[in-house]
Amino acid sequence: MSDIAKLQIGENTYEFPLIQGTEKETAIDIASLRGATGGVVTIDPGFKNTGSCQSAITFLDGEKGILRYRGYSIEELAEKADFLEVAYLLIFGELPTKEQLDKFYNDILDNAIVDDDIKKIIDAFPKNAHPMGVLSSLTSALTAFNPSSVNVDSEEDMYNAIVKIMGKFPVLVAWTMRKQKGLPLHYGSRKLGYVENIMKMMFEKPNEEYEINPIIKDAIDKLLILHADHEQNCSTSTVRVVGSSHAGLFASLSAGISALWGPLHGGANQAVLEMLEAIKEDGGDTKKYMGKAKDKEDPFRLMGFGHRVYKNFDPRAKIIKVAADEVLDDLGIQDPILDIAKGLEQEALNDEYFVKRKLYPNVDFYSGIIYRALGIPVEMFTVMFALGRLPGWISQWREMRLRKEPIGRPRQVYTGENYRPFVKINKR
Ligand code: SDX
Repeated sequence: MSDIAKLQIGENTYEFPLIQGTEKETAIDIASLRGATGGVVTIDPGFKNTGSCQSAITFLDGEKGILRYRGYSIEELAEKADFLEVAYLLIFGELPTKEQLDKFYNDILDNAIVDDDIKKIIDAFPKNAHPMGVLSSLTSALTAFNPSSVNVDSEEDMYNAIVKIMGKFPVLVAWTMRKQKGLPLHYGSRKLGYVENIMKMMFEKPNEEYEINPIIKDAIDKLLILHADHEQNCSTSTVRVVGSSHAGLFASLSAGISALWGPLHGGANQAVLEMLEAIKEDGGDTKKYMGKAKDKEDPFRLMGFGHRVYKNFDPRAKIIKVAADEVLDDLGIQDPILDIAKGLEQEALNDEYFVKRKLYPNVDFYSGIIYRALGIPVEMFTVMFALGRLPGWISQWREMRLRKEPIGRPRQVYTGENYRPFVKINKR
């Protein structure tokens, strides 16, 4: 294949270099387009055909259903690694030695205390505030208590901001949930691991010694790993664009949390459970909901189905579906919602509308069934997604800053009024 792309506009032919990634993906580098053509730009709503950056962090193949973090397959990482190890891999590029991982975790523990004044901010929220809105606000508020995290030009400043947020974010997640339940705001313990601490802070009751259930610990570990990164999705692109203005890490993450909240993105895991509950209340009539999903006049979508990149099974959904069976079985839970989900999946996989559009279950379709079995409230499901995606956001923000990427500022095609002179109000 030639290493240039040719573009014909009118009488003129323009040439642009082709670049190829390590997995043989090819892109047209149009950095010179406006200058060469006297102002012509491309347009691509939703960026369905547009790459925003070159990145060495995560590789997806949507046709083959492949997902790898720094070259390691999601199947192996979900099976053999733990979440903190995967966080280190994503952020720093290599699986850590024991010494490296121990130092990373000790630095995180040294930074896992949150200024008590943050509790005043949590208290100001109504009890029924959605936890994603609370979490986004608290994450941004962290900047006020940690100003050094903003101007991070040195790798050392960056590392300090990273261990701060890796330590404080789980506390904010736990406190957000506990506040809703009217429970006291606790801390973890240096004697526990990263995920065990999350469990203790989230689930510990004030009048009992918290026991770590290994089934729940393994399930949360696996779910967090599966959510850890996903290349240039909506929320990660948001983190990158906000960070490209040299806004601090915490402000960039706060923006990413807001983007993830949307039901078309991370908010889908909550929407899936609400949809499955509605179907159950409706006597399990999946056919009615399939009909609604296909009806162009009906805004209803089959939540947890479809994906911008995966036009085959989302590999994470496959793993989570198996884990859902295992966790519910291990915990002795019979949840009719799981059977409804499986029935819906089977129907969709055999339905011409879904098959033609290559709509398969995505990461959000089964995850909520496990979260529910673990006793996590439905409005906290997307917060769990954010907890998993934290190291991915951090790694992408760090890569963008280290590569000194330019500020993100897209162009447009103007379709408004041409010039017209101002008219005084008494003449209108
Ligand atoms: C995540 O990008 C990432 O990597 C995201 C994520 C990550 O890890 O960061 O993987 C996490 O966000 C997973 C997706 C969670 N969202 C949902 O489950 C919400 C339901 N799904 C959809 O809204 C939709 O599939 C999207 C948003 C996920 C993808 O939308 P696209 O790529 O913009 O596709 P589209 O909206 O243009 O749909 C193409 C066609 C349309 O029909 P036609 O106009 O061709 O007739 O498929 C239809 C859509 O109407 N369609 C659906 C559908 N999803 C797409 N029809 C019914 N139900 C659905 N779920």
